[in-house]
Amino acid sequence: MLEQLESTYTQALAELETITHSDALHEWERRYLGKKGAVTLALRATGQLPKDERAAFGKRANEIKNALAGAFTGREEMIRQHELARSLEEGEIDVTLPGRRVPTGGLHPATQTLRRIYAIWAEMGFQVYRSRDVEDDDTNFTLLNIPPHHPARDMWDTFHTTTPGVILRTHTSPGQIRAMHDYGENGTAPIRVILPGMCYRYEQLSARSEIQFNQVEGLAVGRHIHMTDLKGTIAEFARRMFGAEKRVRFRGSYFPFTEPSIEVDVECMICGGDGCPVCKYTGWVEISGAGMVHPVVLQNGGYDPTEWSGFAFGMGPERMAMNVNGIKDIRYFWQNDLRFLEQF
Ligand code: PHE
Repeated sequence: MLEQLESTYTQALAELETITHSDALHEWERRYLGKKGAVTLALRATGQLPKDERAAFGKRANEIKNALAGAFTGREEMIRQHELARSLEEGEIDVTLPGRRVPTGGLHPATQTLRRIYAIWAEMGFQVYRSRDVEDDDTNFTLLNIPPHHPARDMWDTFHTTTPGVILRTHTSPGQIRAMHDYGENGTAPIRVILPGMCYRYEQLSARSEIQFNQVEGLAVGRHIHMTDLKGTIAEFARRMFGAEKRVRFRGSYFPFTEPSIEVDVECMICGGDGCPVCKYTGWVEISGAGMVHPVVLQNGGYDPTEWSGFAFGMGPERMAMNVNGIKDIRYFWQNDLRFLEQF
């Protein structure tokens, strides 16, 4: 029986060498290693041998079985490669198979919101003006009617650089001064701009405050601009941004560079005004500070405040994105966690 097994083994190996198609290969597997294959049957017959021959025969039969299985796998891989090469050569590509999707990136939710905001202000006649992230202390504060050591400076905790007087801007308002000088033609031309960009504050991180965030500043300077223009313009922006059915409210506030000053709230879009954690149970979410440009600021921008007036606002795009999408923690924006980013 052993002799017969050995010759089956030799024959199986020889046959395998000649096989070039997977059909024939599987037929071969069935014939030798399948349930009723020669090697399987031989193994099963071990029990019929005289006792003293069984162990040696069983051991050898198992060796042969494993050797053939190994040879089979090797051949299978070779045939697979051949068949692939052949089908490529013959152009046998199955064009009906679905393609592999290439993963693409997406726009950051803050960028999406910014672009929406630019589009709305563009429709309303505002140009984008890019001011600088690294500012001087004068432009960020003093020229905005916040003198050195004035207590109002506490409203903005500041990142300083190693160069005295050079800071990271704490808000986009210093861009008002730069825009007036760049576009104002020495205080003779009207202005309508928005100034978007990153702002930096040396603050404790929390669900509602980050050390970096975007603002979109707005500035309009003209000869007969009044508070009603500011309110109407902001209300129109909110209508286009959030939809006509969302209510907007104006609250009196204080900023050194506007007089009077207001803050603008929009109805919380998560709870519809009923109160929830996102709006801190007030039903309202703050979207902007605003006001009439202070005469001192107009003067610092090169305009005669007895002839010119203007309004300004500074809105928070991340706040708006949070309100629209129910994002409960501002820290998600800059953590680069794909599980967050991929939802937008
Ligand atoms: N710069 C103010 C802030 O950062 C917002 C603001 C801008 C208020 C323009 C009034 C006018 O809080």
